Amino acid sequence: MDHTAARMKTSEQGPTEPAPDLGRDSIVEISNGLRRLLADVFALYVKTKNFHWHMTGRNFRDYHLLLDEHGTQIFAMTDDIAERARKLGGTTIHSISDISKHQRLKDNNEERVDAIDMLHELGRDNRELTRFLRSMHEVCEKNKDVATTSMIEVWIDQTERRAWFLGEITGEREQQLNVSRKSA
Ligand SMILES: [Fe+2]
Repeated sequence: MDHTAARMKTSEQGPTEPAPDLGRDSIVEISNGLRRLLADVFALYVKTKNFHWHMTGRNFRDYHLLLDEHGTQIFAMTDDIAERARKLGGTTIHSISDISKHQRLKDNNEERVDAIDMLHELGRDNRELTRFLRSMHEVCEKNKDVATTSMIEVWIDQTERRAWFLGEITGEREQQLNVSRKSA
């Protein structure tokens, strides 16, 4: 949040929305995409914390701490995604019900989940989030929204890193690499 810039804007031009550089259609398309992305990121954040809190078993400490790190990183994305939409002149998520209306990643309300299943599920969700980020990157590129494009590149790298760590623990990554070696 840039308070100084916001104050300057208010004093120079009155309390209006920031003047958008992009066309109305671009703003609608990008902010709609960012809204879905934000809903998914909140859903993944809550699931990551859910599994952090309900972790059990021999590797409790390692997994509990890993998921805490992941949760912190995922939560840090939320404010940037929402404020990016507002900077462009669009709107974003208003409530928990707004999140559930727009999220594509599924919640997990199971009372008990095995540790390894938690990690598998988070690995899949992070890979899915990477796909959503990539498609949002294309939308931003098409609309020449350079700033959102470069922010998404950082989030893709972070999301791939989380998927890498989870995939190494579950052994899923080894399987994926074997499949791609065989098909090459
Ligand atoms: Fe904690």
